[in-house]
Amino acid sequence: MKAAVFYEVNQPLVVEEVELDDPKAGEVMVKIGAAGVCRSDRHFMHGDAPIARPVVLGHEGAGTVEKVGPGVTSVHPGDQVILSFVPACGLCKSCLEGHSNLCDSHAATGPFMYDGTTRLHKGDQAIHHMGKVACFAEYAVVPETGCVPVPSPIPMDKAAMIGCCVPTGVGAVLFSAKVTPGSTVAVVGCGGVGLNVIMGAKLVNAAKIIAVDIRESQLEFAMKFGATHSVNASDRDPVAQVKELTGGKGADYTFEVFGSADTTKAAYDMCGKRGTVTVVGIAPVGAEAAINAVDLVRNEKTLRGTYYGSARSRTDMPTMVDMYQSGKLNLDDLVVRHYSLDQINEAYGDMDKGEVGRGAIVFD
Ligand SMILES: NC(=O)c1ccc[n+]([C@@H]2O[C@H](COP(=O)([O-])OP(=O)(O)OC[C@H]3O[C@@H](n4cnc5c(N)ncnc54)[C@H](O)[C@@H]3O)[C@@H](O)[C@H]2O)c1
Ligand SMILES: [Zn+2]
Ligand SMILES: [Zn+2]
Repeated sequence: MKAAVFYEVNQPLVVEEVELDDPKAGEVMVKIGAAGVCRSDRHFMHGDAPIARPVVLGHEGAGTVEKVGPGVTSVHPGDQVILSFVPACGLCKSCLEGHSNLCDSHAATGPFMYDGTTRLHKGDQAIHHMGKVACFAEYAVVPETGCVPVPSPIPMDKAAMIGCCVPTGVGAVLFSAKVTPGSTVAVVGCGGVGLNVIMGAKLVNAAKIIAVDIRESQLEFAMKFGATHSVNASDRDPVAQVKELTGGKGADYTFEVFGSADTTKAAYDMCGKRGTVTVVGIAPVGAEAAINAVDLVRNEKTLRGTYYGSARSRTDMPTMVDMYQSGKLNLDDLVVRHYSLDQINEAYGDMDKGEVGRGAIVFD
């Protein structure tokens, strides 16, 4: 089958034929329907985050079950499934405590299947599976625990979004920060994930939702998703602008959704007394943000990270499908570009150029 393989940092992905083994016990083969173009893959391509290579990237995906390995009971051939880049084993401490987004069994095996081997290879060369998903490919073999069935199917490109940017962004608001109605929210970085933070803030009736970005196009686009104010961070200090929009107080909840030390510091500084700063973006390895230690204490601020929106894939993804179907999540306007797998490097080029919304690789 055809897959986009990541061999070398700062080199294009190579779209080529690779071999994919049949699913083993507890595994499922999925025919990929769509795969989202998320910045997390880009971080690996740029060497900002380490990953074992060669690897098939792609962690925001959905498809149709093709075949199942021995012992699989929760999905069947023909089912639409959303893929979780942190499969929930259901047995480890994190899963049992309700934090399956941090599953220990997955953390211990990373881009391998649970048994420490890969199903992807090219001749004798093993190829890794990003997040046990690897959906920049026509097919993927994933653990059953990483397959979330969709009871009433939705378009594949929308389903793919519920594999990463939707639970990450909406979950950051609902499950991590737990934003309360009437609050003021500032969102630094309004790409695919940031727009979902904005949608989450609208969902919980935040009073003021301030979109912060360096591009006017992203700021205008963010208004469609519920932003009430915008701040262009390339014109003037975004911290001062957010303070002006909040009567000098700063926002009650701020979200960093780009991934750098500077934007993390800005999100911290624009947060007000007793406010919560939630870091979603993944900064380059080794990045350290300068936080004012006295301000943290005197103003009783909370600084926290969020991984996969603190969402529990097996239960929260189906809820997000329902939210889309009942018109509460605007995924129709979110996905603005479709590409073929052969166009994957172009898709990431468009992300670098700052095209608005989310791109999706779509398969026949
Ligand atoms: N925590 C998680 O579980 C998780 C999951 C998915 C993605 N992420 C991370 O979230 C981040 C965003 O991902 P994405 O796919 O939405 O990326 P994206 O490229 O679509 O969006 C990033 C946005 O940030 C804006 N931006 C750049 N510099 C800025 C600045 N100085 N100030 C304000 N805005 C700025 C860009 O113009 C763009 O609109 C990435 O770091 C990604 O790796 C984290
Ligand atoms: Zn992602
Ligand atoms: Zn687990």
